[in-house]
Amino acid sequence: MIPQLKHCVTGLILHLVFLSGALATPSFRGQPLTDESQLLATYDYVIIGAGVSGLTVANRLSENPNLDILVIEAGEFDKNEDYIVIPGLAGGAIGTIYDWNLTYATNSDINNRTLSIPQGKAVGGSSLLNRMVFDRGSSADYNRWKKLGNPGWGWTNLLPYFKKSEKFTAPADSIVDEWNISYDPSVHGTRGHVQSSYSPWIWPSTKHFIRAIASLGVRFPRDGASGDAVGGYFVPHNQDPASVSRSDAASAYWDTAYNRPKLHLITGRKATRLISKATRNGPIVTGVEIAISAQSSRKIVHVVREVILAAGAIHTPQILQLSGIGDPATLSRLNIPSVANVPGVGRNFQDHLYVPVVFSFDFPLTSTNLTSNSTFAAESLSLYHTKGTGPYADATGDFLTFLPARNFTTKAHSLRATTLRQGSDTYLEPDTPLGVRRGYSAQHTLLANGLVAADEAQIEILWADGTFVVGLEHPLSRGSVRLASSDPFAPPLAAPAYLRNPIDIQILVEAIKYIREIARTSSLTPFNPVELVPGAQVNSDGALEAYVRGAADTLFHPAGTCSVGQYALGGVVNQDFRVYNVGRLRVVDASVFPMLPATHIQSSVYAVAEKAAAAIMSSWKD
Ligand SMILES: Cc1cc2nc3c(=O)[nH]c(=O)nc-3n(C[C@H](O)[C@H](O)[C@H](O)COP(=O)(O)OP(=O)(O)OC[C@H]3O[C@@H](n4cnc5c(N)ncnc54)[C@H](O)[C@@H]3O)c2cc1C
Ligand SMILES: *[C@@H]1O[C@H](CO)[C@@H](O)[C@H](O)[C@H]1NC(C)=O
Ligand SMILES: *[C@@H]1O[C@H](CO)[C@@H](O)[C@H](O)[C@H]1NC(C)=O
Ligand SMILES: *[C@@H]1O[C@H](CO)[C@@H](O)[C@H](O)[C@H]1NC(C)=O
Ligand SMILES: *[C@@H]1O[C@H](CO)[C@@H](O)[C@H](O)[C@H]1NC(C)=O
Ligand SMILES: *[C@@H]1O[C@H](CO)[C@@H](O)[C@H](O)[C@H]1NC(C)=O
Ligand SMILES: *[C@@H]1O[C@H](CO)[C@@H](O)[C@H](O)[C@H]1NC(C)=O
Repeated sequence: MIPQLKHCVTGLILHLVFLSGALATPSFRGQPLTDESQLLATYDYVIIGAGVSGLTVANRLSENPNLDILVIEAGEFDKNEDYIVIPGLAGGAIGTIYDWNLTYATNSDINNRTLSIPQGKAVGGSSLLNRMVFDRGSSADYNRWKKLGNPGWGWTNLLPYFKKSEKFTAPADSIVDEWNISYDPSVHGTRGHVQSSYSPWIWPSTKHFIRAIASLGVRFPRDGASGDAVGGYFVPHNQDPASVSRSDAASAYWDTAYNRPKLHLITGRKATRLISKATRNGPIVTGVEIAISAQSSRKIVHVVREVILAAGAIHTPQILQLSGIGDPATLSRLNIPSVANVPGVGRNFQDHLYVPVVFSFDFPLTSTNLTSNSTFAAESLSLYHTKGTGPYADATGDFLTFLPARNFTTKAHSLRATTLRQGSDTYLEPDTPLGVRRGYSAQHTLLANGLVAADEAQIEILWADGTFVVGLEHPLSRGSVRLASSDPFAPPLAAPAYLRNPIDIQILVEAIKYIREIARTSSLTPFNPVELVPGAQVNSDGALEAYVRGAADTLFHPAGTCSVGQYALGGVVNQDFRVYNVGRLRVVDASVFPMLPATHIQSSVYAVAEKAAAAIMSSWKD
């Protein structure tokens, strides 16, 4: 995280120790099972992970009252802590008991730095930690999924599921009048479970940023959620407009289903491996082994229909590999017997990363005032509690800008040419299996051509009162998630291979130059911009590259490790989310994205999980 933001969040939490109480009243969460003795002997479905995707699928499958369904979650329920509930404190659960506290394996491309990668460990998963940006990528991003050989995975196929998951509330007239927010109700859902609404209060400096990019010719699509997602636009948050509080997977999909008698949830249990047996038609999954801790005894839960993996893009491939599903060559080194040969497991790992460009501006009011002025912070908190507005009602990222390469650099064509001249293999990990190489080769061509496309964003700019958060949206680099040990309680080795491909660096270098252009527009110069980071003296391409290598950090969107796609192209699941070469097993979380879309990804994870639930239900006649 940006040091400034981290500091800011910590400061806010300190204030809240003295100024307690949330606007939202804690909702009744339903009782999870209290111990193993309450488990049924067998379940129809066992879902591993109660995060964004797992709770979506649990909720939809349990609409059928005849099915016995169990959700296994390693974490616990949150307690409606202010740092989870209050939008202005979003991100405050990072590094708490609700975070797995993982770190990425380092690489020399980022100067051997060790980066933490927060991941939710709670009922609700990472939706309790996230920054509440609720947006979608452009239609072209999802159409690439289809182009990779996945019929049914394009934008028009997914839009109904985006809508199905969403309960959209249009912005209030007052905020529309003040901010000129445009939106298209026809692309939003109003009967789904995740509340999506615009912030009732927006930091005033945002106006100057919007004028600045307008003066540089950036377009403003009517509604970024429409599939036309390049340009600058206001985005909703996963936020309940009535209580002005976080809408997460637990409040959305658990609180609306917990009273279904045949839906069970057990928390504080880690799924340590899948149990399978050989049949004439190949191996099938028959159960899940769970444990409280490394030392505790193991318990096996039996399943008659399917096991559904929803443990997230880092833990799902770990569980598969612990269960002998993966690349037999690597598993044998850890003495794990091979159950199914699926070389793509854990490969194709990708994550959005960002670099900050920090200016000081003489704005009369910014989020810094909350930490520098305790009177202002106290007044703001009281305003939140009494009227549901003011700075604490606002999660960051109200207005986002997604730009194709041609809109921030003159080098789009040369970047494409350089990319096409690279062998698609060049920057892959040396032991990348052949199928995965073939699959990546197709991605590489799409990524190269995307560099000159008008409808695919290469960068995101998130304005935070003078700090420009510049995200790399279509990274070319690919890493992996592997077992560090055969101990299920040891964290896996997650290596996003940040900046391995030099094109990723060049895009960010060009983006920083463009940020400086924004700061030089007449909308911002009256506020006396002074560049603090990297600093105006960091000027040559070489110096900017060094800055990028030293500063790049995660935007929290790990994905791709159990990609949908043909088996011969390194795919792990087919278009119906079924894992290849092993029966009764599906993956439904962010692992299945073959390529990251240019967006914050939670709404896409909800949509894909809705699609998965529909696929699961239609393959069994109930
Ligand atoms: C700090 C942070 C900020 C983010 N900000 C945004 C944002 O502003 N906007 C946005 O769109 N997206 C954001 N995201 C991303 C978004 O929240 C995730 O992409 C999304 O939650 C992924 O859903 P998932 O179902 O794949 O995994 P998760 O929601 O992480 O759920 C996985 C669940 O599985 C459980 N689990 C894992 N292993 C096991 C096991 N062995 N046994 C039992 N349970 C297990 C975990 O505890 C967790 O509850 C952010 C993420 C983070 C971490
Ligand atoms: C993560 O680290 C924090 C701070 O050290 C700790 O309080 C918390 O319990 C850790 N989370 C987990 C799940 O262990
Ligand atoms: C990173 O570590 C490797 C291996 O230890 C070393 O060779 C390399 O010089 C280091 N790079 C940097 C930039 O520190
Ligand atoms: C409001 O936004 C629309 C585009 O969404 C733009 O055409 C119009 O000029 C804007 N109006 C004002 C007053 O900014
Ligand atoms: C990019 O620039 C072109 C040409 O100036 C313009 O037509 C287009 O609207 C711009 N796109 C965005 C996303 O601003
Ligand atoms: C906010 O900070 C700015 C810059 O330091 C200062 O000029 C202004 O008075 C502050 N306002 C409040 C309400 O604290
Ligand atoms: C701090 O905030 C209060 C309340 O908004 C304001 O009256 C005061 O001027 C601020 N102090 C400074 C130093 O800006």
